[in-house]
Amino acid sequence: MDIEKVNSMDFGEFVDVFGNVIERCPLIAAAVWSQRPFSDLEDLKKHFFAFIDALPQSDPTSIPGARAGQPLYWDPETGQEGILRCHPDLAGSELRRGTLTAESQREQSAAGLTSLGADERLRLAELNAQYRARFGFPFVLAARFSDRAAVSRELARRLLCPSAQELRTALGEVKKIGSLRLADLLRADPAKL
Ligand code: GUN
Repeated sequence: MDIEKVNSMDFGEFVDVFGNVIERCPLIAAAVWSQRPFSDLEDLKKHFFAFIDALPQSDPTSIPGARAGQPLYWDPETGQEGILRCHPDLAGSELRRGTLTAESQREQSAAGLTSLGADERLRLAELNAQYRARFGFPFVLAARFSDRAAVSRELARRLLCPSAQELRTALGEVKKIGSLRLADLLRADPAKL
């Protein structure tokens, strides 16, 4: 797909195609559509990321101390934390139930997370739970750049990071995931992103 094709899309088509560039955040694609025309893939990507950067960090709708659940779709009132909360756990219950988005399924599969042994799955589930309890959002990592051993290692390392730093790191990972998804859609070379 070239950029002329992207610029020619009506609202519905654009949201259908780009609605999951940011996991379960079709409203971000909807907002980006109004910024067309785009000069190239890089420009399109910039609009997605500028939208995220302009959001408030915290989610005023979350109850301090409560275990935050995963929404089906992003609510703009929940800001950047809300975007993180739309991500399923890596190797978590959605993977087991088969309810992941196609993109997430591919990424988790590429990292070997669909074929974990029982011990590895248990270890990741424990780490994921500790991470959610500490930060109030799930552990997000551009899994396609990773493998199962690196995912556990990185999760254990990031669990010890300060909260403000971790929010920035996690949003950086959301952007890496979004870059790769955009590259897939426009069939660009990920090495040049
Ligand atoms: N990294 C790539 N895809 C995903 C996802 O769906 N969830 C999380 N937590 N991290 C990811």
